[in-house]
Amino acid sequence: MFRKFVVYLVLFISGFCSTVRSQTQAVDAEGHQWWQHAVFYEIYPRSFMDSNNDGIGDLNGIASKLDYLKSLGIDAIWITPCYPSPQVDFGYDVSDYENIDPMYGTLADFDRLQQGAKTRDIRIIMDFVMNHSSDQHPWFIDSRSSRTSAKRDWYMWHDGKGSAEPNNWVSTFGGSAWTMDFKTGQYYYHYFYPQQPDLNWRNPAVHDAMFDVTRWWYKRGVAGFRLDAVDTLFEDPELRDNPVLPGLNKYGDPNEQDLYNTKLPEVHVVLRDLRKVADENNAVLIGETWTKDVNELKQYYGDHSDELQMPMDFLFTKVDRLSPPEFRRQIAAVDSAGGWPVFVLSNHDIVRSYVRYGDGQNNQAIAKLMAALYLTLRGTPIMYYGEEIGMQNTDPVRKEDVKDPIGRVGWPQEKGRDGERTPMQWDDSPNAGFTRGTPWLPVPLIYKTVNVATELKDPASILNVYRSLLALRHQNRALLDGDYVALNENDPNVLSYLRRYKNEAVLVVLNMSSKPQQVSFDLAPQGFDAKNAHTLLTTVATGSKASSVSHLSLEPFSVYIGAVSK
Ligand code: NOJ
Ligand code: CA
Repeated sequence: MFRKFVVYLVLFISGFCSTVRSQTQAVDAEGHQWWQHAVFYEIYPRSFMDSNNDGIGDLNGIASKLDYLKSLGIDAIWITPCYPSPQVDFGYDVSDYENIDPMYGTLADFDRLQQGAKTRDIRIIMDFVMNHSSDQHPWFIDSRSSRTSAKRDWYMWHDGKGSAEPNNWVSTFGGSAWTMDFKTGQYYYHYFYPQQPDLNWRNPAVHDAMFDVTRWWYKRGVAGFRLDAVDTLFEDPELRDNPVLPGLNKYGDPNEQDLYNTKLPEVHVVLRDLRKVADENNAVLIGETWTKDVNELKQYYGDHSDELQMPMDFLFTKVDRLSPPEFRRQIAAVDSAGGWPVFVLSNHDIVRSYVRYGDGQNNQAIAKLMAALYLTLRGTPIMYYGEEIGMQNTDPVRKEDVKDPIGRVGWPQEKGRDGERTPMQWDDSPNAGFTRGTPWLPVPLIYKTVNVATELKDPASILNVYRSLLALRHQNRALLDGDYVALNENDPNVLSYLRRYKNEAVLVVLNMSSKPQQVSFDLAPQGFDAKNAHTLLTTVATGSKASSVSHLSLEPFSVYIGAVSK
């Protein structure tokens, strides 16, 4: 009896220890977790690599490029939705949360991809489309079948106001956010397309079903989720009208303040619950967190750091020109927000950074500059596929060519998001080596020179600068763990900062202007000696072996990164 008790006690203690361990697996003396040292890379699966030549990328295509990702320096890939879907919103309309769309492969392909990634120490992050399902999901088909369906309350059904919609809320993709279902005589709510009905997160059955989805993927080995559209999970139960603002939006709808259908406090309860499950699985939660300021962003970390580990800082993407003062402001704001910063330059919804920051003449240098910026800051970067080779936006020029529905509704003001989703450019063979079929979006002609194979051969290419930066940030303690100290804060042209860790420090100097600049540093207040420098990486053609940073000459849009010591 006593022996049995001891065995149980040992089992209990070791189980307890492993649970605690899974929550606190630190990768360094600072207690940082794996995702704080990792570089993430977003893959839009339709556009990454096509293995069966149907013109659409797929999971086997991703698997065939794992060696590329490893050698680039990627630690985790976030795959945007590859679940079964009618593809109205290219996967963000999910009709089965626990499967793979046949166009992308099978669950067996997923498991192979997962295994291949694991062998290379690359983690997989799935996209969790929590706010809405597809209208073809069996839950919604059941829900709309009758007012008495067991799933009726899984979505947001409401009576109209007389012959009008229940209230004035507009869909962010154009038109009313309410669609009438004539069979049952009620409206359902959709913040996005009508084919993306909002789930009713106030219904505990929805909550449980969606949490089970996360557990199901954790069991399959995924390392976390990127949470889609977290802002929009809850709506005002009284369905109050949103305040109307002056003017019309790009779809011709009245401008509104989304007061009653976004960012309700209940969101944070769900995030805290999701975090508990993530912690049990040593997993990370990344948020698609569009915020108006850093105070809002702060809330997503949770009052007790118990919500998202990685809310994306989109305020950073709002700095739309190479302005050192603006970047300084944004970096300082997120750095002091109390959580771990998460930097992105672009993604599948945002015009590519190459175009946003490029001046048309120095785009290559500017792309390297931007890489040096967000890969050396304190925080985790999330790259977007193709950014590392300087892929540009290729927007449709005719409305009839547009694939993304918002581009058809909003044309010509809103051309949709096809431009930032074109196929990855692998080499200079037809279709950039992405497919031997007809690619679902056209490959721009520039692929002949802007492609992985060609850039690998050029030591000064954007790709090789990315590779060097990533190698550096993986090895350098100050870049991994150091604090951020802004330098020369009144300089309107050059953004400079120190990443400082104990006796080591890395100085990052970014000339954001089209003119040569002279800068000097006095690092004594920070406890370092500017006369004692060692160049780690630079795009400055001359003087690259600087041994002192007391006076540094910088070419237009150039980068200098050096180690300084005491
Ligand atoms: C955000 C996704 O990034 C976007 O692509 C999608 O259209 C909406 N959420 C709706 O799911
Ligand atoms: Ca394919």
